[in-house]
Amino acid sequence: MHPLRDKPRVGLFTFAVTAVALLSGCEGSQSALQPAGPAAQDIALLWWWMLGTSAVIVFAVVGLWLYAQFRRPPPASSEQPAPEQAGMRHTAAVDRIIARRWLIGGGLILPTVTMVVLLAFGIPMGHRMLPLPLPEAPLRIEVTGHQWWWEVHYPEQGITTANQIHIPAGRPVDFHLASADVIHAFWVPQLGGKLDMIPGRTNVLRLQADAPGRFRGQCAEFCGLQHARMRFTVEALPEEAFAQWVAARQADEARPVRDAGAPSAQVFEAHCSQCHSVAGTPATGGPDLRHLHSRTLLGAGTLRHDGDGLQRWLREHQHLKPGNHMPAHDHLDDDTLSALVDWLRRQQ
Ligand code: CUA
Repeated sequence: MHPLRDKPRVGLFTFAVTAVALLSGCEGSQSALQPAGPAAQDIALLWWWMLGTSAVIVFAVVGLWLYAQFRRPPPASSEQPAPEQAGMRHTAAVDRIIARRWLIGGGLILPTVTMVVLLAFGIPMGHRMLPLPLPEAPLRIEVTGHQWWWEVHYPEQGITTANQIHIPAGRPVDFHLASADVIHAFWVPQLGGKLDMIPGRTNVLRLQADAPGRFRGQCAEFCGLQHARMRFTVEALPEEAFAQWVAARQADEARPVRDAGAPSAQVFEAHCSQCHSVAGTPATGGPDLRHLHSRTLLGAGTLRHDGDGLQRWLREHQHLKPGNHMPAHDHLDDDTLSALVDWLRRQQ
């Protein structure tokens, strides 16, 4: 076949492949276009309206531009008639009036109407997302951003955990967002918009999951080397399962530490306790490890917590998440590390 006749096919194929690649980004547990709560639904609806409106405007402008290109080819300068001819003057005056109408209509009225319509949609939506007082107070969860993990505290339940947030489905939750170091941003695309976590202040974001499910969150403000590996999950549970989860975590925190006199407990105290906490030991601060067994991910979403995941994390964490604030454990031999992993597992 002639190469020129092949061109449209190649163009169509390239367009299709690109479109599939781009649209595949619209699906998944981190897609704002698969909303699972009222705030996210509003955002997705507004996004579709903005896309539709801008598509109509782009097609209209391109259509007019093509019309202007092909309607009247400009006459060659040598054939230009004398400007003093009455007919030409008349045509020029009509052209000026038409041009002025297009300028006022397309440059002033159309943008004004478009902006007013979008604001009429957007302002009430933004208002609905505010954490305004409700007849029944929402669940309060305090999340603090650290380089590069999330501290999660339930003040009314007395639970502190990290990176994996559990909420009751069908109930509004107020996230009180703060930062311990630099600016981070808390974002769960399927549940709502993102909000900055700024050192020295607390911002409140109200989210709700309509049904049980697991949603991915991501830090949305560049915060250093491992910004991309500052992920978290939000698991929405049925009300009863959430109450069970709370009771299990409270029991974890109330239970005395197991094997407090074991050699591994001393290893933990010597090497980990300055930065990590385990409820019931003198260790304070840093990611709480008492709930480690209940988490399915390690290193804020860097590694699956299964099989030898924890051992691997302790050995290779500076390779898996370079620059994280935990020092390398090169001074600890494999036996010491695996005994430490066993001791941490026994805290379940
Ligand atoms: Cu924290 Cu980006």
